[in-house]
Amino acid sequence: MKSSNTTWHHATVTRDGREKLHNHRGVVVWFTGLSGSGKSTLAHAVEEKLHMLGCHTFVLDGDNVRHGLCADLGFSQTDRTENIRRVGETSKLFVEAGTIILTAFISPFRNDRDRIKKLLDVNDFMEIYCQCPVSTCEERDVKGLYKLAREGHIAEFTGISSPYEEPLDPKLVINTESTSLERSVEMVVELLKISRVIHPK
Ligand code: ADX
Repeated sequence: MKSSNTTWHHATVTRDGREKLHNHRGVVVWFTGLSGSGKSTLAHAVEEKLHMLGCHTFVLDGDNVRHGLCADLGFSQTDRTENIRRVGETSKLFVEAGTIILTAFISPFRNDRDRIKKLLDVNDFMEIYCQCPVSTCEERDVKGLYKLAREGHIAEFTGISSPYEEPLDPKLVINTESTSLERSVEMVVELLKISRVIHPK
């Protein structure tokens, strides 16, 4: 920590108070997986569902965050680590705010994800693996980036020229190749109910 001579100011409105007001817990739902594996689509679809249920939600999406908070970062291992660190710290603030935060980042390195796990309380972090073979992501190639990566126009592209380390013990694995979006949303919402983040109505 470079900023010495700083003192933590304790808020009088607490996380507990905010959660009571919201009628649900704050939590980070962390979607990880290859580019094109469906993380953003699923995160936004889950958000829609939760929003309809009256929950306070927010989606942090890799492509969007890289337009602002992380616009100074590229895709080297060091930059990705810093990207995920910033997102982790931001997520922690959202949890304090009593929000259900849904994050959609490739987050390819296990160490980076584990650091966030440690940063948060064990009940505040739910890792969800959007599992999809790279061949399928490449076939879909929604953004045309796999083609560019194969042609050598994009360096260090995850799944092609940069590694993806699968989660060892995620809360949920969703095979996005074979599972419908509707069913995937149900699986996440069910997890939130079982974990008592939202009421099991
Ligand atoms: S992460 O690795 O640091 O977690 P993040 O999720 O923020 O990545 O951003 C990934 C998105 O950036 C991809 O969905 C894709 O649209 C774009 N992108 C651009 N260059 C690369 C690259 N070299 N590797 C992976 N994704 C890239």
